[in-house]
Amino acid sequence: MPATPFDWIDDEARRRADAGLVRGLRPRDAEAELLDLASNDYLGLTRHPEVTAAAADAARRWGGGATGSRLVTGSTALHAELERELAAFCGFEAALVLSSGYAANLAALTALTGRGSLIASDAGNHASIVDGCRLSRAETAVVPHADPEAVRKALHGHPGRKLAVTDSVFSVDGDAAPLAALADVCRAENAALLVDDAHGLGVLGEGGRGALAAASLSGGDDIVATLTLSKSLGSQGGAVLGPARVIDHLVNTARTFIFDTGLAPAAAGAALGALRLLCREPERALRARTVATALYGGLTSAGLTAVRPDAAVVSVRAPSPDAAVRWAADCRAAGMAVGCFRPPSVPDGISRLRLTARADLTDEQIARAVATVRRTAPRA
Ligand SMILES: Cc1ncc(COP(=O)(O)O)c(C=O)c1O
Repeated sequence: MPATPFDWIDDEARRRADAGLVRGLRPRDAEAELLDLASNDYLGLTRHPEVTAAAADAARRWGGGATGSRLVTGSTALHAELERELAAFCGFEAALVLSSGYAANLAALTALTGRGSLIASDAGNHASIVDGCRLSRAETAVVPHADPEAVRKALHGHPGRKLAVTDSVFSVDGDAAPLAALADVCRAENAALLVDDAHGLGVLGEGGRGALAAASLSGGDDIVATLTLSKSLGSQGGAVLGPARVIDHLVNTARTFIFDTGLAPAAAGAALGALRLLCREPERALRARTVATALYGGLTSAGLTAVRPDAAVVSVRAPSPDAAVRWAADCRAAGMAVGCFRPPSVPDGISRLRLTARADLTDEQIARAVATVRRTAPRA
């Protein structure tokens, strides 16, 4: 048989299957029967009637799509309102909303650095940060995880623009970055600090104002934050927050902003609805953290190895990729959805189950979740 241009795909698929690393899509039903500890809906807002009504109202008023780039026809009064309220809530001068958190990281990294710049990027950073660094054409020093001294060494002596970038809470293990120490290092080295607060917004800080507010860093003239609207705010989309001049610069230079259709009105409306709800019900943030601590306590008291959660992500070690997949499947068979992280999504090659705490879980659901993970755990 003659070779075809895509034969290599079958070879790769075989290698993935041999390594137990095949991924597939499993559409979920609208009426979920599973107890959900896999989604990023930390505050339980995605189906909140106020949030879905805000999405529907926005779609009716503004249409099903934004109709164009924000710079052409795609910028509505709704986007501007969301930007004003997001910036004020998180304590920043200005905000720019984009179509995803992924696009927000690409925008910030490419617009604020470039050839001749140096980026110090934590080894545990999210894939969108990794891709932003690559796309920026800056020199990137990947520094050991949560290590401000390593950041200092990487930045020191570089003659051009300098920026350190970190997740506020790391997606895989749920541990928090040492933001105060990183800010000190950046200030000493005259470098900007970019923090991806995807997992901190809505969970950390007073009333869920985020990790930078919790560290008293929001609004600093050398600090920029990126956010996703798809986790605590139960919607879709992303944002960059920072000094007004940084946001103006992004409007003029960030390609994932300029050449991308604006965020769909329904998503902007849902995010704004969720943000207003969180302002009225700030206790949701604390509840998400309390649920995470309860899950961690229940799992570790049964001898499972988990990382103490700094926000709402609870990560439990699995002995191998295969065991992690089986464990997640056994949880599912027992009525509970959990996340399963394995290579290449884990920088250290260690597979995990990932449980996400949700503010709306009841104590009975927490107990059931802990009992299910314990009962289905692989035997040592
Ligand atoms: C830390 C982090 N940054 C960025 C993103 C990307 O955000 P979005 O899903 O809105 O593109 C995610 C996950 O989705 C994330 O976990």
